[in-house]
Amino acid sequence: MEKVNARDRLILALDVPSVEEAQRLMDRLGEGIRFVKIGLELYTAAGPDIVRQARAKGKRVFLDLKFLDIEETVRRATALVADMGVEFLTVHANRKALRAAVQGRGGSGLKLLAVTVLTNFDANDLREMGIQRSVGDLVAARAALAAEVGCDGVVASGEEPAAIRGSVGDRLLIVTPGIRPSGKGVDDHARPTTPTQSIKAGSDYLVVGRPIRDAADPNDAVEAIVAEMQAAFNAREH
Ligand code: C5P
Repeated sequence: MEKVNARDRLILALDVPSVEEAQRLMDRLGEGIRFVKIGLELYTAAGPDIVRQARAKGKRVFLDLKFLDIEETVRRATALVADMGVEFLTVHANRKALRAAVQGRGGSGLKLLAVTVLTNFDANDLREMGIQRSVGDLVAARAALAAEVGCDGVVASGEEPAAIRGSVGDRLLIVTPGIRPSGKGVDDHARPTTPTQSIKAGSDYLVVGRPIRDAADPNDAVEAIVAEMQAAFNAREH
């Protein structure tokens, strides 16, 4: 098995409200960060330009827009994203939306990540939507759907990789947010996982925002997270 370079598997969530702040954070972190996630906040503020700017700095880009709409709209919007040089795009795990996204990305290198169940949902939220299943069951079923229609991966909390691997084996990448480095505070996360726990459970990529953005020294925070991730990947390979 090829040795994993942990730095390639760390994705910085660029959760800032302006192009200037995004540029400042990327410049401050320099080569330490290779992959950035642009979500609703920054994309609403800055539009496709911020994707071009991150690409111009040599960053890989994860566009986290969580598409869900009629097929025509998802297909056409995904085709536009594919032309922007984005590497990961999120789409809600709805059969019609996922299929449309697979058509829209065509033969491009864009990888589609299915959002199975938003990580802030619990069984009560599902019941309110008329869904009588546990979160774990629904995550596994939607991961299977994502694999069936030709997606490349799923977004999943650090507690879910085992169930997902049980459902789809190694056919999907698992990208995990909600990470708190060992020994740090938990912010507003009810069930945060550490890099070690997530990677041990089967995550391939980790998304980290505030623990880097808000650190006294963001570069130190990145290096500590990369070191923890590398140790976990090395342990997984043995
Ligand atoms: O909490 P943190 O600032 O590290 O979050 C980074 C990113 O992960 C955010 O952009 C958010 O969209 C995502 N996230 C998530 N589910 C969580 C926590 C965070 O999808 N439970």
